[in-house]
Amino acid sequence: MSVKLDAQHLSGFMNSGELLAIEPQVKQAHELLHSKSGPGSEFLGWLDLPQEYDKDEFSRIQKAAAKIRSDSQVFVVIGIGGSYLGARAAIEFLKSPYYNSMKKDTPDIYFAGNSISSSALAELLSICEGKEVSINMISKSGTTTEPAIAFRVFRELLEKKYGKEGARERIYCTTDRARGTLKQLADTEGYETFVVPDDVGGRYSVLTAVGLLPIAVSGADLNQLMQGALQAREEYCNPNLKENDCYQYAAIRNLLYRKGKTTEVLASYEPSFTMMCEWWKQLYGESEGKDQKGLFPASVIFSTDLHSMGQYIQDGRRFLFETVVLFERVKQEIVLQKDPQDVDGLNFLQGKSMAYINEKAFEGTVLAHVDGGVPNLVLRVSDFSEKSLGQLIYFFEKACAISGYLLGVNPFDQPGVESYKKNMFALLGKPGYEAEKAALEARLRH
Ligand code: PA5
Repeated sequence: MSVKLDAQHLSGFMNSGELLAIEPQVKQAHELLHSKSGPGSEFLGWLDLPQEYDKDEFSRIQKAAAKIRSDSQVFVVIGIGGSYLGARAAIEFLKSPYYNSMKKDTPDIYFAGNSISSSALAELLSICEGKEVSINMISKSGTTTEPAIAFRVFRELLEKKYGKEGARERIYCTTDRARGTLKQLADTEGYETFVVPDDVGGRYSVLTAVGLLPIAVSGADLNQLMQGALQAREEYCNPNLKENDCYQYAAIRNLLYRKGKTTEVLASYEPSFTMMCEWWKQLYGESEGKDQKGLFPASVIFSTDLHSMGQYIQDGRRFLFETVVLFERVKQEIVLQKDPQDVDGLNFLQGKSMAYINEKAFEGTVLAHVDGGVPNLVLRVSDFSEKSLGQLIYFFEKACAISGYLLGVNPFDQPGVESYKKNMFALLGKPGYEAEKAALEARLRH
C-alpha cells in the first residue's frame, strides 16, 4: 500500500492497552458499516464504488473530458462543499496549485459557485473573456443557491457567446439521476448529464462524476485513481484492528478525543496538499460535528505555517493533536549548489536536496511538538500519483465512517447545514419562508 500509518510519536500519550481496549468497539463499527445496518446506511454507496462504479458513465466522462480538452481553453466547475472540494483537491494534488499558470495542453480549470461573492464571480467572468469556455454545473440536490446563481450567470454568458445550440454543446450537468431542478433544466435544455448516485453523499462523492469529470479534464489518469481506491477497499475491509491502518487511525483519533484532544490538525509539508486538507476538513467536520460532539478539524501547511501557527501549536492551550501527511517521493527535486562566496552562509547545505531539508524540518518539528505536549500521528504516502491519491481518499473516507460510529453519531447526514439556509432564504424573501422573515428581521434590528 502507498499509505502507511506511523504511530511512533504517540508513545508518551497513549499505550497499546488503550488500542486493545477499543478493539471491540471498532469491530462493532466495522460490522455496522459492512452489514449496512448503522445510522445513515442509505448513504453507503461510496464503500463499494471503486468496484461497482458505472462503467458506461465512466467512459462517457472520459469522452466528455477529451472533447472539453479539445475545444476549451477554460473549464469552469460550478459547485460547493462536496460538489467542489474533491475535484479541486485532486487536481492540485496531482498537478499543482499553479496548474492554471503551467505550460500544458489541457484547459485552465476554475471553480465558481462556492461563495456568493460578486467580486469573485466578476473576476472569473473577465478571465473568460475572449476564451473558449465549457462549464460543469455540479449539484446533487440541484437547488443549492450559491452554484445556482453562478450557473445562471455562466449559462447567459455561454448562450450570448455561442447561441443556445452552441452553449448546449459546452454545458455539462452533474446531478441526481432523476429528481431536482437541475435535472429538469438539463433535460429541458438538452445538456449532457452525469449522475451523483442516490446513495453517495456530497462529501463522499469525489470518485463519482462529481470529481471524475473535472479531474479527467486536467489530464489525470482516472483508471489509476480508481485502481488505488480499489486496492484500499480490499486492504481496509480487514476487521482486525492490528492489521488495518485505516481503522487504527479512526481508533487513535477517538482515543485522543476522549483524553481532551478535541482538535485534530492535519499537517503537510507540501503546498499541493492544501486543498486536500480543505476536502478532509469538510469530510470530518460535516460527518462528526453533531449532537454537540466531534473533533474540530483544522489544517496547516508546514513549514509555511510554522511561521504563523507554530507558536500556538508548540505552546498554546493543550487540546490539539496533529496528523502529519508525509510524502516519500517529491514531484520534482532541487539540489542546493555550492556558492563560492557563501555570503548567505548556506554552504553547509551544499549538495542537499530540498526534500532532505524538508524531512529534517519535519523531524525537528515533530520532536518539538511532542515535547510541547502535542501527540503526533504520521501518515506516510509514497508519492503524488493517481494510485496513491485513490488510496488516500478511500483511507480517509472509510476512517471517517468508522470514526463517526465510534463517536456515536450518524456520519452521513448534515442537519446543521440547513439552519443558515433557512434564515438566508427567509431574509431574501423566498416564497414559503414568509413567517420566519419578520421574526428574523426583528432580531437583526435589536
Ligand atoms: O457534503 C454535502 O452534502 C454538502 O457539502 C453538499 O455537497 C453541498 O451542500 C452541495 O450540495 P449540492 O450538491 O446538493 O448542491
